[in-house]
Amino acid sequence: MADASDLQAPAKPPPAERLVERADNFTEEELNALCEAAHSAIIEGGGFGWINPPGRLALESYFRGVLLVPERELFIARLNGTIVGSAQLVRPPRNNEAQAFAAHLMHSFIAPYARGHGLARLLTQRVEEGARALGYQVLNLDVRETQEAAIRLYDSLGYVRWGTHPHYARVGGETIRGFHYYKLLQPRARKA
Ligand SMILES: CC(C)(COP(=O)(O)OP(=O)(O)OC[C@H]1O[C@@H](n2cnc3c(N)ncnc32)[C@H](O)[C@@H]1OP(=O)(O)O)[C@@H](O)C(=O)NCCC(=O)NCCS
Repeated sequence: MADASDLQAPAKPPPAERLVERADNFTEEELNALCEAAHSAIIEGGGFGWINPPGRLALESYFRGVLLVPERELFIARLNGTIVGSAQLVRPPRNNEAQAFAAHLMHSFIAPYARGHGLARLLTQRVEEGARALGYQVLNLDVRETQEAAIRLYDSLGYVRWGTHPHYARVGGETIRGFHYYKLLQPRARKA
């Protein structure tokens, strides 16, 4: 008969593999995964513009279009190899010389089934690195007041809330506020 010392604790699952990278094209499979992630994030509560899922074709066109916009860089987040979210780094238009030092972080999301693995934090940090590498010194972003997870994330990463827009978005017939943030991007210390 087995005694207690023979009983082994169940093996822990290996840690999820996280990866964030810049995308400049997609395979069909990758585009499918990205659209699926966006669709489920919109259903769960949106947060990057859409309130109602726009349908698969519209999402596909949207993400293909993002890759074509010169001022936009798309960063994708993968969990165990599968795309589960994205964020966009948006550069100022060329005519905006006065704000040529500042970029925007927009449309960041992680699919509900991939949350809680630290991917949004990694995604945000990669976008910051991307912005820094392009020479930007400020990163701006804004969120709805109801996006509590995002608010916690940006607060914890040192973003400064500088203003509240009282009429920022309308969801379900209700007007909600938006919080505006910025972060100064310190240049990376040079290695000796
Ligand atoms: C906000 C969002 C991107 C976070 O994704 P995630 O990968 O689960 O986040 P992470 O695992 O990287 O968590 C990073 C931090 O976010 C905050 N956070 C994440 N989930 C949270 C939750 N459910 N409640 C409160 N804070 C939360 C925490 O500060 C967390 O840090 P901690 O784990 O050290 O406590 C995701 O919830 C989402 O897509 N929401 C809808 C879209 C949205 O709000 N986008 C952002 C603005 S456009």
